[in-house]
Amino acid sequence: VAIRREDYTAPAWWIDTVDLTFDLEPAKTRVLNKMQVRRNPEVPAEPLRLHGDELNLARVLVNGQGASFRMEGSELVLDGLPDAFALEIFTTCCPAKNTKLMGLFVSQDTFFTQCEAEGFRRITYFLDRPDVMASYSVLLRADKAQYPVLLSNGNLVEEGDLPEGRHFTRWVDPFKKPSYLFALVAGKLVSRSQRIKARNGREHLLQVYVRAGDLDKTEHAMRSLVNSIVWDELRFGLPLDLDRFMIVATSDFNMGAMENKGLNIFNTKYVLASQATATDADFANIESVVGHEYFHNWTGDRVTCRDWFQLSLKEGLTVFRDQEFSMDLCAEPSARAVKRIEDVRVLRSAQFPEDAGPMAHPVRPDSYIEISNFYTVTIYEKGAEVVRMMQTLVGRAGFTRGMQLYFDRHDGQAVTCDDFAQAIADANPDSELARLLPQFKRWYSQAGTPRLAATGQWDAQAGRYTLQLTQSCPPTPGQEHKQPFVIPVNIGLVAADGRALALQLEGEPAPQGESRTLVLSQASEQFVFTGLSAEPVPSILRGFSAPVILEFDFSDAQLLTLLAHDGDPFNRWEAAQRLGLRAALAAIRDPQHAAGTPVLSAQFLDAMREVLRHPQLDAAFKELVLTLPTEGYIAEQLDVVDPQRVHAVREAMRLQLATALAADWQWAFEENSDTGAYSPDPASAGRRALAGLALTQLCLAARESGDPVWPGKTLQRFKNAGNMTDRVNALSALVVAGHPLAQQALARFHALFKDEALVIDKWFALQAGAPDRGGDVLPLVRQLMKHPDFSIKNPNRARSVIFSYCSANPGAFHRPDAAGYVWWSERVIELDAINPQVAARLARAMDRWSKLAEPYRTAAREAIARVAAKPELSKDTLEVVTRALASN
Ligand code: ARG
Ligand code: ZN
Repeated sequence: VAIRREDYTAPAWWIDTVDLTFDLEPAKTRVLNKMQVRRNPEVPAEPLRLHGDELNLARVLVNGQGASFRMEGSELVLDGLPDAFALEIFTTCCPAKNTKLMGLFVSQDTFFTQCEAEGFRRITYFLDRPDVMASYSVLLRADKAQYPVLLSNGNLVEEGDLPEGRHFTRWVDPFKKPSYLFALVAGKLVSRSQRIKARNGREHLLQVYVRAGDLDKTEHAMRSLVNSIVWDELRFGLPLDLDRFMIVATSDFNMGAMENKGLNIFNTKYVLASQATATDADFANIESVVGHEYFHNWTGDRVTCRDWFQLSLKEGLTVFRDQEFSMDLCAEPSARAVKRIEDVRVLRSAQFPEDAGPMAHPVRPDSYIEISNFYTVTIYEKGAEVVRMMQTLVGRAGFTRGMQLYFDRHDGQAVTCDDFAQAIADANPDSELARLLPQFKRWYSQAGTPRLAATGQWDAQAGRYTLQLTQSCPPTPGQEHKQPFVIPVNIGLVAADGRALALQLEGEPAPQGESRTLVLSQASEQFVFTGLSAEPVPSILRGFSAPVILEFDFSDAQLLTLLAHDGDPFNRWEAAQRLGLRAALAAIRDPQHAAGTPVLSAQFLDAMREVLRHPQLDAAFKELVLTLPTEGYIAEQLDVVDPQRVHAVREAMRLQLATALAADWQWAFEENSDTGAYSPDPASAGRRALAGLALTQLCLAARESGDPVWPGKTLQRFKNAGNMTDRVNALSALVVAGHPLAQQALARFHALFKDEALVIDKWFALQAGAPDRGGDVLPLVRQLMKHPDFSIKNPNRARSVIFSYCSANPGAFHRPDAAGYVWWSERVIELDAINPQVAARLARAMDRWSKLAEPYRTAAREAIARVAAKPELSKDTLEVVTRALASN
């Protein structure tokens, strides 16, 4: 049954206080829940309906008396209640058997919780909805030897010993919160602690809890937390509001991390890092996820969502905040641009396909069957782009003002996306956002990626350049026709010789800068630039100022001009992507194009060489430019996709780049191979990234020529590496090139890191993601699943093998014999019985099936239908496969 946004009604009852007592035992945990409940006088009277899921109910008392109740499905229903009363509920549950990892579960002998979105109801009966905010007091009791650390939200107010080797702690959270922010942790953990003094003089205790043996990998997470606290105060004036702020890491977790008030719980992947075990990308991810969860303390916890349709209120805004945080930590402006390009790459490679596929939904969805399926790149990343556009329309200072007004109005409340947009607009009454607010909010209500078609007309006589911008948006499930969006289009004009031109719009007395924001709000509008002496090259959508697909009929020469000279680094990178994409699509579409013939022009290769050898550009930027568009991104541009053809053409391009630029790759490797004492800062990480790409290219070229030198050097680099980035890049170069030395290196890698779960995940992922040679990856993946280190119950491990193959290795997955799809369907069904959230994620690997060419298309549909036909499928997986089949 679908839940619909328009059906929202305020709760008929409020829960003001919750007093929880836990007796923690893995097989049977007892939960005593005492609540103060009162009728909401603002809505018609209704029975009290409490959510529950997989609970054993033992006792219900109303004002201390046994009360009559009934069960309706999984809901506990109470009738004939007074207007205010004490409600006491006693239940038990079995954390040891909780493989869904929602609610209270056990991981490596330690108790953890995950309550967002609807996990609290697996702990006790409750009004498990975000607009019911209560004050929590929590008593935890457990065996002291096995569970020496007992944590919950807020402040520790009491602790002590109990008979029979047990002990207790009592926690009081000073802030009201919705149930999804409840958390507890109990187990053998150790912590890194740090005391900091905020600008207002308040002292805070910060702690990162991990398993013994992992403490030496928590320094970076702690530093990231301190940086986050400082940044939020500086940029938005938002201080830490708690005496104590804790982060705890678990190796069994469905998602990245969770922002429970004062007690964030993290996937170990986003906490643990040392130079020996974590890559530069891991370090960067930890910084942004630690930031993300910390920033939720205000955008999510202090002001939360009224209902789950408003999820992007906190997620889109908090992703925007963590993106800004990572950018502001960059020492160099060029590193900020690199971060922006990386973020856009994620958006375009994951969110654009989602917006074009069967699971497409607005940033504020209108309905769902299972809310867990809507923790999507649309809610998160597109939601962040919507917030970014608001900032573009009101300016950075205006946006900060808007945030202040948002908290002045809504602190302590559960609100909507409308409330947020209204606050930003009201704080900037003269802005384009305020003028166009109702229309701007179509970004929340309309799904699909808008297309922005641009054409330019040059009038040499008048020195005028007319830019015509036309927008459209394709239909998405349930939304046939779209209204025009408000699209901020950042623009510059570049002379053929590379100079930036001054921008003067018709009617303006003087030019106004070299980069500015045009606001498109009609279906089609013209913008006329005057005072030009020669035809300019337009640099449109600078910094990717809106999440749209820009169509402009650039000539190759224009793109080469932008690649060489554009003052906007994003569009400089974009020019190279367009050139690469253009070459790929031409080869894919050309029936005459034969395997082994060149795809890339000499001109393109020269331009790439120029970037690679450029004396001023930094390594990180070069690495992005020299990386060709992914197979997924190329496939999205096609109406009918033959994944093997896409794969073959992209491989051919990569090989051509490797051989044509062999000397340049060698030079680039030698220039960047030694980054000195390890530091994960963007500049040295960029140099390692470029050295890694160079090494892969050199090994690929060596495979063609049979030259043993570079594979040998790569193996040496692998063995001698002083950090995980260099080590895994060298290993990957051998694996990608399919060199025989790869086997030796893989075996050594496993032996070196057999006790480091996160590194073993990399070991699995590298193999499951390896280029296919004659269909060898699927049999290998089958073998990997039998490896003693494999466990399908651990989400990180399942992702490292199953997702790496099904979602990240199109050349190996899309087999003409359909064996990849059959295997996928078996894994979805297997996972669904264990962990529906993970299964439903895997189910999404087939989102784009209806675009596939035959024989893939029919085989894919059959595989999806096989999953859909499985009896007793979770609603998570059922929703995904049902929508997929409907996209016929
Ligand atoms: N709020 C968390 C975050 O983005 C994610 C929680 C996801 N939970 C879920 N059941 N899907 O930081
Ligand atoms: Zn979040």
